[in-house]
Amino acid sequence: MRKKVIAGNWKMNKTPAETTVFINELSKVTAGKNNCDIIACVPFVDIQNAVAAAKGTNIKIGAQNVHFEKSGAFTGEISADMLLDLGVEYVIIGHSERRQYFGETDDTVNLRVKAALSAGLIVILCIGELLAQREDGITSEILSMQTKKALKGLTKDQMKNVIIAYEPVWAIGTGKTATAEQANEACLIVRDAVAEIFDKETAENTIIQYGGSMNAKNAAELLAMENVDGGLIGGASLKSADFGIIVDAAQ
Ligand code: 13P
Repeated sequence: MRKKVIAGNWKMNKTPAETTVFINELSKVTAGKNNCDIIACVPFVDIQNAVAAAKGTNIKIGAQNVHFEKSGAFTGEISADMLLDLGVEYVIIGHSERRQYFGETDDTVNLRVKAALSAGLIVILCIGELLAQREDGITSEILSMQTKKALKGLTKDQMKNVIIAYEPVWAIGTGKTATAEQANEACLIVRDAVAEIFDKETAENTIIQYGGSMNAKNAAELLAMENVDGGLIGGASLKSADFGIIVDAAQ
């Protein structure tokens, strides 16, 4: 049985002061709900406050990106060691917004995944097809290729620290959710790709989340699917009551 993992991706929302208030509020909502892992992936500047507020609660803190070099002349970038030093446990890598707006490629995603794992972070790797790719009937090829490229060179052991988030780009922030069947089918395609690269056991143990307009209303149906092991939640993770309902659905 894979444990469900519910992660919020705050994106570029909430100041450090708002973070402290929000995590305090959220920890009351999630208290005692220990049948799933609960993560908040916050902006870099919010990390310190988030870690402090989450101390002693069941909420873990993640970042939303990490650079692949250990240190050096990379203005504006943040290394894995810097994140670890602040108490960060998780990091989102390869989000479609990074791919779309910040030139992230499958190759840089792979470099970031390797750097994060070597440093000791748990990776939430994002993959997903565009609407045009789904309409062209190449979803399976795209998901399989993105998975294989991102995980290139990893060991089976390292895969214990990789969560994959299937996020169809057309469902992100659009209010258009994949149907439970579409989500399940896509997560299975990703699982099969993991099996091809590593083996069946590794694939069976890999947590594969769905992300894309998951909310308090549709979470239960999505999370009930066999291959959907959790959610990566944007908009609905910014409201503690909504996030709490999604956590409940994962119990
Ligand atoms: P929304 O839940 O706002 O659609 O965002 C999903 C997402 O991109 C999570 O990483």
